[in-house]
Amino acid sequence: MQAGSPLNALKRQLESQAKGYGRLDCPICNGVGILFDPHFAAHQGAYRLCKCVEEQSLCDGNPPYDYYDEEKNAIVPCPTKPARMALKRIQHLERHSGIPERYRGRLIDSIDVSGKSSTNVLIALDHAVHTIYSAGRGEVRGLYLYGPTGAGKTLLSCVILNELIRLYQVEAHYAKISRDIIGKLRDTFNPQSEAYGEGRRIEQKLGRYPALVIDDFGVQRESPWVNSVLYDLIDTRYENNLLTILTSNEPMDSWKDISDGRVLSRLREMCLEIHMEAEDYRLRESKSLR
Ligand SMILES: Nc1ncnc2c1ncn2[C@@H]1O[C@H](COP(=O)(O)OP(=O)(O)OP(=O)(O)O)[C@@H](O)[C@H]1O
Ligand SMILES: [Mg+2]
Ligand SMILES: [Zn+2]
Repeated sequence: MQAGSPLNALKRQLESQAKGYGRLDCPICNGVGILFDPHFAAHQGAYRLCKCVEEQSLCDGNPPYDYYDEEKNAIVPCPTKPARMALKRIQHLERHSGIPERYRGRLIDSIDVSGKSSTNVLIALDHAVHTIYSAGRGEVRGLYLYGPTGAGKTLLSCVILNELIRLYQVEAHYAKISRDIIGKLRDTFNPQSEAYGEGRRIEQKLGRYPALVIDDFGVQRESPWVNSVLYDLIDTRYENNLLTILTSNEPMDSWKDISDGRVLSRLREMCLEIHMEAEDYRLRESKSLR
């Protein structure tokens, strides 16, 4: 990433607004102090402290992150203790976030803005940055990202979750409609399934995450049951005033005839609709491999 690029400007804006643990003039983390290292932890990737924090460490990196101060003749907290506690919380939140492996640890700078649709990607990214920043301050305005396959909707929505976890330690969660919502709820009717009878609990959890991505949100024209499940979920999140990010291949308007337009009217209030009109990145990647 070039220093003066628009992406770098967005990254700086996002990182310097968060209350971090690093050095404000650190060119790597812009003061956040915590980053995702794809080569860490046997190359599975993991969050870790930035060098600018490690440099100040006076403890051995193990809890309770204290050290012996000779002058005071006492055990005192290491200057890196708050960062290390935050790191632990971030690792815990990410483990329980439901974010798919492919999108793990993808932060703002993992988005490629070099393609033909770079302007559209940058506009969407700008909205995403604003959403993260506002959510970190307790404002709730979600996004409805719609566009063709491969445009980067799931990636962008996971970047938002990852950054909310890293910068603000928000309990942010990912759910794919078919697998994590409808599939799970169907299982609750099956006596053979572990989830049997758990429908209410699953719905309550989804209705309570402070930030939730609902991926592949689409009208299920064939099934009134599914539409009513989705209506209930949207309605609960609307009533609880919680951040909801939806991705879809169809515009928000496709909901106008469902549940007498009650889904659409809530979506309009909860989310800003963004058209992600970008070329299929999957095709682009497979072409460049040839
Ligand atoms: N701007 C981008 N920079 C880097 N990688 C990208 C970008 N856009 C998409 N990708 C990558 O391309 C693949 C497809 O992106 P993604 O899964 O976000 O598409 P999508 O819009 O959700 O598509 P679908 O509608 O099929 O679910 C992913 O591996 C993603 O990481
Ligand atoms: Mg997707
Ligand atoms: Zn740093």
